Amino acid sequence: MGEFISALEAAGELVRIRHPVSARLEVTEIADRVMKQPGGGKALLFENVLRHDGTRSPYPLAINLFGSKRRMAMALGVQDLDEVGARIASMLELKVPEGFLAKLALLPRLLEVAKFPPRRFTGAPPCQEIVWRGREVDVMRLPVITCWPGDAGPYITLPMVVSRDPVRGTRNVGMYRVQVLGPDSLAMHWQRHKGGAEHQRVAQDIGAEKIPVAVSLGGDPAIIWAGSAPLPNDIDEMMLAGWLRGKSVELVRCVTQPIEVPADAEIVIEGYVNPREQKLEGPFGDHTGYYSNADYYPVMHVTAITHRRDAIYPATIVGKPPMEDAWMGKATERLFLPLIKMFQSEVVDINLPIEGAFHNLAIVSIKKRYPVNRAK
Ligand SMILES: Cc1cc2nc3c(=O)[nH]c(=O)nc-3n(C[C@H](O)[C@H](O)[C@H](O)COP(=O)(O)O)c2cc1C
Repeated sequence: MGEFISALEAAGELVRIRHPVSARLEVTEIADRVMKQPGGGKALLFENVLRHDGTRSPYPLAINLFGSKRRMAMALGVQDLDEVGARIASMLELKVPEGFLAKLALLPRLLEVAKFPPRRFTGAPPCQEIVWRGREVDVMRLPVITCWPGDAGPYITLPMVVSRDPVRGTRNVGMYRVQVLGPDSLAMHWQRHKGGAEHQRVAQDIGAEKIPVAVSLGGDPAIIWAGSAPLPNDIDEMMLAGWLRGKSVELVRCVTQPIEVPADAEIVIEGYVNPREQKLEGPFGDHTGYYSNADYYPVMHVTAITHRRDAIYPATIVGKPPMEDAWMGKATERLFLPLIKMFQSEVVDINLPIEGAFHNLAIVSIKKRYPVNRAK
């Protein structure tokens, strides 16, 4: 993420803010105005964030990193998002040809999919340079922001929540907002149809008392985005991120939990969820521009926090569109179009309008091949 921030700065896409700014509502006030500028404004690096207790955070806060078409493309290492869509399309067009030599020629393209599986990191992982355990654990030592006046509390807003299916062992990475309930307790807002919630259900079914969970912050921007990508449950987001960047994601085991996170993350919050324990989460000023009501969600108990020595805390805000998530959603639209076309060949193009906040609104153009002949 540090390299990405340097690249943004070199491209004139980043503004540093040295003036002290409070994590309580002030970061949002500034970021909201910038995100609403034509094209999404610049990325912001707040170098002097005042935490909720009024003290200065040693960790700068980055926001709006993905908040323009250009920056979103840079995050995925391309000039234009359609380039990635075209790569996916060419992979999906694999019609097996006749003849041995022609089949051989297909191999490199087929192998491309599986070429970048996540790998185990060897050596001392950057994300564990500093380790907080026991009494040192306090999530509010990080510059966690309170976004909107009616929010139930401070929220971690750009996390990759990593969990495993307790039976099959498959991994899920999801971007779900996380509410800070106390120094070592967090509310996990994984909606019931999401990967994390499925793992919780499986854990309930088998009577497991704890499932390990990690909230990973920062790392390769492709991984951060992959956490928001609507992948089927059994496809590993780490594999997608590796394929996007042409480089395997390197994983390391957490220090207190049997679960892996990207070794190059900035900050990792480790802990476990008791699948039967729930607490009220919300209200929270949501993507739609309205507050979502409070509801019951599981609690994560934090067992350790690890971070890079020079960690940068990544955040976003959601609210009345356009916001930063508009550009993350546009990347999803471009990348998933070829997959939709594979199942529905009449689809020509798709527009998830920013104004729809990526919730249940899609405009789809089709080439109708079988028009209905109405009986006269
Ligand atoms: C900024 C942002 C915040 C999000 N917050 C949530 C959230 O709080 N809960 C949730 O279930 N999905 C949230 N999402 C959507 C999920 O990230 C998305 O549905 C993703 O595909 C979930 O991964 P999964 O299918 O592996 O569970 C958010 C997306 C973005 C871009």
